[in-house]
Amino acid sequence: MKEELIEFELEKNVFYNPKMHFCRSISSLGVGTIEKELIIADGFSASGIRGLRYLKENDNVLKCIFIDCNENAIHYMKSNIKKNKLTKKSKVISGDFNRKIREFECDLIEIDPFGSPVPYLFDSIRSIIKKKKAFLSITATDTAVLCGPHSAACMKNYHSKSLNNEFTHESGIRILIKRVLETCLENNFGVSPMFSLSDQHYFKLFLELKKGDDYCLDSISKIGYTSFCTICGNRTYGKIMQNICECGNKMVYAGPIWTGELHNPDFISHMLLNNKNRDYFHKQKLDKILNIMKYEFDFPPYFYDLHQLSRFTKNSFIPKTEFAINKIIEAGYKAVKTHFLSSGIKTDAKIGAIKKILYP
Ligand SMILES: C[S@@+](CC[C@H](N)C(=O)[O-])C[C@H]1O[C@@H](n2cnc3c(N)ncnc32)[C@H](O)[C@@H]1O
Ligand SMILES: [Zn+2]
Repeated sequence: MKEELIEFELEKNVFYNPKMHFCRSISSLGVGTIEKELIIADGFSASGIRGLRYLKENDNVLKCIFIDCNENAIHYMKSNIKKNKLTKKSKVISGDFNRKIREFECDLIEIDPFGSPVPYLFDSIRSIIKKKKAFLSITATDTAVLCGPHSAACMKNYHSKSLNNEFTHESGIRILIKRVLETCLENNFGVSPMFSLSDQHYFKLFLELKKGDDYCLDSISKIGYTSFCTICGNRTYGKIMQNICECGNKMVYAGPIWTGELHNPDFISHMLLNNKNRDYFHKQKLDKILNIMKYEFDFPPYFYDLHQLSRFTKNSFIPKTEFAINKIIEAGYKAVKTHFLSSGIKTDAKIGAIKKILYP
């Protein structure tokens, strides 16, 4: 099999999902954007494809520690490393991630398990406790818990209430960041997202961790709630949830969530440059999505879905996304596309203003 420059083999007991090719590419762009030489832990490495790609595609990766508890995976990973002539830069570790990660002190830890990353946060962060700065690259495939209607499951794993509405994917990824932050704070690290991606069935976070009270306090200041009115579509955010909407109805809420930025636009600009210089299979899709993410900056922690807006205004006309954005900008507000939904817009305009602009 082949993914980008890596040739590899596996058998059915060794996990490989071709649908995560894009996720591995965007993550590798992130790895190459870090202006520092890196020792990486590819926890949950399965065939080793992620770590192998990080090594092959990025000159700043000095070494990769591959960890997996599946003996078949270890066997194939070893031969895949050899096949790609990356033996000198690789170390293969067989065993449970939480036990093994503590034996290393990496600059970037890749957490790509089945389902939730939560059980692996504590040991990951303890392993880098002596560092001033490190990176976590996290995949979560339990989006049904983070976004679903069963808010008790979300409360149990993520200590937050989920909200199953039109911007559920944004609330979900913000709950995930807040949960990672909780474990970071306990260990005196603040977080700063380099990029946060919602795609298909998964969330991908690429976070910088920085140690010290100032970073922690700054991160704490970004924890809050979003409130939502199911009757008029109004949404608000703040340190506390809003109970009653301006229309008089009771609001529902998501949180606590991370209300800070989802991405670092400078970091994304560098990822875009890296993408131009690479010949990835998903080059165009990466360029498109990163160009949208770059401008998802300095907006409230939610978006508006134009389909739902027509429902709230009881109007069958659904404006095209670009048309709606231009109209809102013409009226003096900020507005951009969002990578969460093709019919979604991020804006600083409140719902009353948007209704007047799009449905005069
Ligand atoms: C989703 S797959 C990883 C996919 C891989 N990163 C890729 O990009 O193809 C999860 C892997 O984690 C391994 N795994 C599950 N629980 C583990 C644990 N507690 N410690 C180490 N490895 C574990 C499984 O054997 C499996 O290979
Ligand atoms: Zn309302």
